[in-house]
Amino acid sequence: MSHSPHHSHGHEHAPAHEHDRDQAEILDLDAEVLAGHLASLADRLPVTTAPRRIVDLGAGTGAGTLALLRRFPGAEVTAVDVSAPHLHRLREKAAEAGAAGRVRVVRADLDADRWPEFGTPELVWASASLHHMADPAAALRRVHGLLAPGGLLAVVELAGFPRFLPADAPSEAPGLEERCHAALDRHHAEHVPHRGDDWGAALTAAGFTVEAEHTVTVDIGPPPTDAVARYALGSLRRLREGAASALTPTDLAALDRLLDTGSPQSILRRTDLGVRTERTLWAARRP
Ligand SMILES: C[S@@+](CC[C@H](N)C(=O)[O-])C[C@H]1O[C@@H](n2cnc3c(N)ncnc32)[C@H](O)[C@@H]1O
Repeated sequence: MSHSPHHSHGHEHAPAHEHDRDQAEILDLDAEVLAGHLASLADRLPVTTAPRRIVDLGAGTGAGTLALLRRFPGAEVTAVDVSAPHLHRLREKAAEAGAAGRVRVVRADLDADRWPEFGTPELVWASASLHHMADPAAALRRVHGLLAPGGLLAVVELAGFPRFLPADAPSEAPGLEERCHAALDRHHAEHVPHRGDDWGAALTAAGFTVEAEHTVTVDIGPPPTDAVARYALGSLRRLREGAASALTPTDLAALDRLLDTGSPQSILRRTDLGVRTERTLWAARRP
């Protein structure tokens, strides 16, 4: 899940294919590092009967799709995303998991006036994707219309992007990561206005009954695995894109040393990295 500090609106410093590739790498690492946490959220879905048809909206490279295929072995998942490379990667991962036959990918822009035909799913999953929608309230009303009566919508969102460095790091610019996030938050307030919305209230307004809200706290301590270090590197690279213009020269130089994989200060050489974040699940039923 984005979990990347980058998004589809506003600032596109890199060409689209590079953006997709970088985001895909972070989504894959996020899925790998947080697989257990995601599975625990999927386990907490208040399903009455195991769903047979599931739709994953804004599926990315398939973190949720794969977790749902494992959780519901009798189900087929339709994975929807606007990014063709992400969907390609998702199919590869489904094939590696031996589940290619249970996944259909649909490339679609969910901001468009019409959605493709998704059938009548009993479960719709939207993880870190609703806040990207131009009009999330309209998207929720459409999901309401799409679901089978009694069906569930699971919304997963993150309170903020993961933190990786200790608060007093790096030594030449302590607190750098928080300052980067503060800069990025100002940027996002402009470009991603729905980040941090009250999804419980939005779900109720769209006609759903919110049956459960669970937050899992992720706190993976040091020393970092290789995946955690690469996840930190990728995430801080994306953070730099949104935050650089608001950083002091000292902070930017310190950030660049962390991001320079050839430097002695490279984030890949740090043994004090962890992953601290939160994921919240809202499970909402169409009455
Ligand atoms: C942060 S990622 C989350 C991916 C995945 N759900 C996960 O949890 O790892 C957000 C995803 O939403 C997709 N997305 C953003 N806006 C979209 C739109 N208008 N229509 C379809 N997909 C969209 C992006 O391409 C990206 O894959």
